[in-house]
Amino acid sequence: MADNLQHIAVCPGSFDPITEGHVDVIRRASQMFEKVYVAIAQGAEKAPLFSVDERVAMARAACAEMANVEVDSFVGLVVEYARQRGAVALVKGLRAITDFDREMQMSWMNRQLAPDLCTVFLVSHPDYAFLSSSLVKDVASMGGDVTKFVPEPVLNRLKEKLVRH
Ligand code: PNS
Repeated sequence: MADNLQHIAVCPGSFDPITEGHVDVIRRASQMFEKVYVAIAQGAEKAPLFSVDERVAMARAACAEMANVEVDSFVGLVVEYARQRGAVALVKGLRAITDFDREMQMSWMNRQLAPDLCTVFLVSHPDYAFLSSSLVKDVASMGGDVTKFVPEPVLNRLKEKLVRH
């Protein structure tokens, strides 16, 4: 392997909020790359439940024990953010076949925009194959227990947020 290869990856997403499924993908990415930036997109969700600052704070707490992971937010194109960070790869989790179409479209578009940047798909842990931020919000808003699906700091913020709504 060439000495000058940089092993920096970006895990982009809305993370509204971060779930245990995301944390699993980020943890595995952190074992494959020297440095991983979790990049929270501002404006990707039309009506996010959490502000970008809240999403960053929850993701930082959830990834606190991963020494080579840094949580950040970005505005604009993810390929531009990745270029600024010197990343060689975007890492995304793939759950069921339902993710495939949208993820492939994004990866092909990103490849057009930045031919040197790879998209790496990590297959989700089967325990989290059904899990999404939207489902967590739905279930929590109706009083369901989401303890198993989100890191503790997210659970606390979800409770605060949903009590206030
Ligand atoms: O959590 P999600 O919905 O899978 O995240 C989608 C995200 C944020 C990765 C995507 O919408 C994105 O990259 N947004 C930034 C703007 C951009 O680069 N759009 C073109 C991507 S093809």
